[in-house]
Formats: sequence, structure tokens, C-alpha cells
Amino acid sequence: MTTRILTLLMTIGVVACSPGGSTDRDPALARDHYSFANVEQFVTEHIVLDLTVDFEQQVLNGSAMLFMKRKDPDAREIVLDTRDLTIENVHFLVSDGKAWDSLPTEHTVGETDALLGTPLTIRIPDSLADTEQVTPVVEYRTSPESTALGWLPPELTAGGKHPMLYSQSQAIHARSWIPLQDTPAVRFTYLARVRTPPGLIALMSAENDPDVERDGDYYFEMPQPIPSYLMAIAAGNLHFAAIGEDTGVYAEPELLEASVSEFADTQAMFETAEAMFGPYQWGRYDLLILPPSFPYGGMENPRLSFLTPSLLAGDRSLVSVVAHELAHSWSGNLVTNQTWRDGWLNEGWTSYLEYRLMQVIYDEDRAAEENLLNYEELLLNFERIDPKYQALAPRITDLDPESGQGTIAYHKGNLFLQYLEHAYGREIFDQFITDYFSDFAFQVITTEDFVDYLDKRLLSVHHGILTREQVERWMYEPGLPADAVIPTSRNLDDAAQLAAMWSRGEVEAAELPVADWSAQATIHFINALDPDLSTEKLVEIDKALGLSDTQNAEIARTWFMQVATRRHEPAYEQMAEHLRKFGRVRLIRPIYVALAENGRDMQLARDLFDAARGTYHPIANASIGPVLEDDPDGE
Ligand code: BES
Ligand code: ZN
Repeated sequence: MTTRILTLLMTIGVVACSPGGSTDRDPALARDHYSFANVEQFVTEHIVLDLTVDFEQQVLNGSAMLFMKRKDPDAREIVLDTRDLTIENVHFLVSDGKAWDSLPTEHTVGETDALLGTPLTIRIPDSLADTEQVTPVVEYRTSPESTALGWLPPELTAGGKHPMLYSQSQAIHARSWIPLQDTPAVRFTYLARVRTPPGLIALMSAENDPDVERDGDYYFEMPQPIPSYLMAIAAGNLHFAAIGEDTGVYAEPELLEASVSEFADTQAMFETAEAMFGPYQWGRYDLLILPPSFPYGGMENPRLSFLTPSLLAGDRSLVSVVAHELAHSWSGNLVTNQTWRDGWLNEGWTSYLEYRLMQVIYDEDRAAEENLLNYEELLLNFERIDPKYQALAPRITDLDPESGQGTIAYHKGNLFLQYLEHAYGREIFDQFITDYFSDFAFQVITTEDFVDYLDKRLLSVHHGILTREQVERWMYEPGLPADAVIPTSRNLDDAAQLAAMWSRGEVEAAELPVADWSAQATIHFINALDPDLSTEKLVEIDKALGLSDTQNAEIARTWFMQVATRRHEPAYEQMAEHLRKFGRVRLIRPIYVALAENGRDMQLARDLFDAARGTYHPIANASIGPVLEDDPDGE
């Protein structure tokens, strides 16, 4: 521990925060079933990390110091979440006001649960029996199997010369690189020191200095309290370029120029978001472009959204993901779901704000196209997902927080908020939006807290428009209520009509107005093709639209899903190439599923997965592996 970090420690103001909003109806629903932490007894207020990035061993090692507040005076044990961590030592940091000292203690590592990991129980020494603040320090190392960490050899990066590391903590992976209370119900600030090999830089979900000296020793501060799933780290040959005054992008130098141009609208998005949702509370907003193995489209790590490079389509057609991650700076990062069961408060709200941003930054047509595609995805989800998981806030506690609900929280949540906007009118609803974010800023809430607030601030103020029962139908019932507002798009209707006409031979492929189509129209066209097309017809449309060779990863995904479902073998080599090229779950999992389900290609799917899995992130492997087993559960 250096003097510098201790000085930082002394100066930082620790923000007091505790598990927020309460549900008096059913306490079991307000509890976090995905954490071992005893948050009723202790809450973390601040964390100090000191970590070294060891690319050779593929581990992080160092220490985590947790500044905790005791809420229950009788409590004598702290339980933290861990997964695949080697705990080397645990002691307490004590201070007599002048100097720091360490106090040894006992700890026990409990039994490992496949979903939750391993509880770490820390005994509080008798001499600390009466203090309100306790500061356990855990010295530890991660394992190469850490479910959060992607360790990339140079050949899997754009530059091919330097290794890279990045984390993905949501939903319950922070515990695989930091021992902590891994629940969204607890917010804390943090400081970190991170050492990397010289020449590489480290970045975190914190204040990053674009001009930092690249000496391999970096300091970070996150002064706003965040939940554990927003802890994030990356290290590699990353460089910065500004987009606008508040916004910029970090990427490998090979991708920097393309990234600045693809995401040039980020500053406008930032300003529009502030005007529509209220002040941005996090300082700067930067993007980090990761290698293709990043398992998501984007992750809203505060101040620094992590993005897949598959958004680099060259025409800004996929930037709704940036609008989405930026919008999380309000819905999710500022007002946070109390448990993963309330995930729609993060994702549904964010999908709605993304839709609102796209209307302003681009236009109504583009937003309507994306809205309709999302709605169609939702209908497909309803066909595959057990009705009991189709509620926005299922009254159950056994859901895997990363898969059980598919995209229901996103698109059904979005439609619910569009329904409110439609019922109350934009002016009233926009006021509600800014009030909501300012009233619950830096808090965590449950679905029931939200419904109470909605009732008080909207339903009961503007009588006779919507009832609480109508709202609760969205929260607790499967499917969509009969009075939902169904998305429409003229452009996509036209594309679908042309798909039907071309399928029947009524128009030639050469006559299709492809040049006028958005990526979204092309996607809709592909989905609307007749299910019984001949191989010749499929070859013809592939050629006319350049589908197998497209640079647009969403078009590729849509096309290769059709290729796999229809067993269109002429495009199998390009499909295999797509599965090797990307590790983003959304781009590859549905293709594996389609192969596994087409009746003939299970073995091919397994072979392709075996060949590629070494390049995927552990989260992608955990999500795809089960669909290729003999008795897949959850599929
Ligand atoms: N926060 C999510 C990613 C996530 C959700 C990770 C749940 C782990 C568990 C992120 O904001 C997200 O939704 N990403 C989407 C993009 C979006 C535009 C729908 C994605 O990755 O596709
Ligand atoms: Zn999201």
C-alpha cells in the first residue's frame, strides 16, 4: 500500500448509502437471491482496490479494502461474495487517528454454489466489537477461469501485438474479480491503483485521464456511489480520441479513426439526453471499443461504456446501442434496480429512453423501424419463454439473472413506457421522467416502489386515464395487455411486402430498391421471406443484397439465422466464418440454436462451437454451451 493511495483514502468523502426502497408486501421479492452478503448487517460504503494485471498468469492479484458500516450492532461476521478467488489473507485496517495498522482475523471459505459462487465469511475481532465502521482488507488473486474477465492473447486483438483484458461484471460476475457484496442493492464509491505491463494502459468505470503517462501504474477514483455490477476494468494498447466536449472514445489505434466517425453523434446524444432526462451526473462520457469477443453489444459502465466492435458498420446504422448505454446513465446507473427481478427498471426504461433519443438524433422513421423490429423480437420471445417469466417483474425468485427472461424486460418494458406516454401525452410524461430521475437519484428501487410512485405522481394526479390494475397487468401478467400500443413502420411494411412479392416471383431481385433501404429494412425483408424458398432463390437474394458478405453484423446475424434454419448449405462457410469472427452472444447464439434445432446440424453446431469457444468470453460459453447439450435446460 503506497502513501499515495493512503492519502487519497484520507481525503475522499465517503458517501453513506444503504440498501434502499423497501417492499412491505412480500419481503422475499425485495431480497437479492443472487448474493450471500449479509446486507442487513453491514453495507459497503467505499472500496479501495490495489491490483496488478498479470497477462502471463491471466490473473489479477492484489487487495480489496472494504469500508463498511455496521447496521446491526450485534453482528460479528461479514459475508462477502466471491467466485474462483484465491484468498491469501484477510485482516482489518484500523486507525488511531494518526496512523494505520492492521489487525489479523479469521476467515472461512464456504461451500461453492454453481450459480452464486463461494461465500467468504470474515470474523470481526473482539477489539472491533463496538465500532460502527469496519474495514476488512482481503488479499487475493483471481483465477484464469474468472467468469468476468476476458483475457485476450495479442492475436485476438485488432493490432495483433499486445494482449488485452476486460471485465464484464453484470449481473453477478464482479465477485469473480473482487470479493465484495455483489448485489445491486448496495452502492459504494471507489479508489483503485492498477499496475499493467509498461506501454499498456488500464481504464476503469471511473475518472480516466486521456493524457495519462503510460508508465504502467494508474490511479482511479469513482466519486459517485455505484452498485457492484458497474465495477469495470480494461487494460491493453488503448488510445483516446475526442468526439465532442464531454465525449470521446478509447480503442486500439487500428480502430480509432473508424470509431470516431461511427460514433460521431455521441456528443449530440449526450446533450439531447441531458435536455430530456435531466443533468448527467457522472462527469465525462467516453466509449471503449473492445475486441470482437466482448459478449454484449454494450455495457453501461459509468463514465466509460464498453462496446462491441461489431457496431462499426461504417454507416452509423447500429448506434442505437450507444444511445442505449448512454441512457443507462439515468436508468440503471442513477436509479438502480434493487434486485435482478426488477431488471426491467434498468433495461425497459433504458430501451424506452434509447427510443426517445433515436427519434431526436435521427428521425421518427428510424426510431419506428427499430421499435417494430424490437416488437417482433418480443413476439418471438413470448413463443419461447415460459409464461411465468413473461411478467415484467416475475413473482418468482429462481430466475438466472442473465438469461431466464430473454429480452422481455427490454422490449415489453419499453412498450409499457410508450403506453404511459401515449395515455398521458408527451408533455406530462416528460415531466414525470425528469422528476423520477431526480427523486430517485443514486437510490435503488423495486418494481413495487416504482408502481407506488407512478400511482402517486401520475395515476392519482390525472384521474380517469389509467388504473393501477392496468399498470399491474404489465408488471405481473404474461404476454402483452390487449390495450398495448403496437409499433408500426411504413418503411418496414413496404420491405415486407416486397419480400412477399419477390418470393412469389412478382418482382426481380434487381428491381428491389435496396439502395434506399436502411439496415433495419433489409433485416425486416430477410425475416419476411417466404419460408419455402428454393436454394436457387436464396442464392439469388444472397447475391443481390450481398448478404453473406455484409459488413453489417445485425444483417449478417439475421441472414445466418435464416441460413441455419433453412439449411441453406451454400452459405454455410460464411456462416461458420461469422461464428468465428464474433463473440457477442446476440450475434452468434441464435445461429447455434437454429443449427441445433434444424433437425440435422447438431453435430455441426458442436464442432463449430468447439472450434470457436477458445476465442469467446466465459459468459458467451456459459450461454451457448447448454443449447448444444443433449438435454438443454432453459431452451
Ligand atoms: N446492461 C446490458 C447488458 C447486460 C444485461 C449484461 C444483463 C448482463 C446482464 C446492456 O445495457 C445492454 O442491454 N446491451 C444490449 C444492447 C441493447 C441496445 C439492447 C446488448 O448487449 O445487446
Ligand atoms: Zn441495457
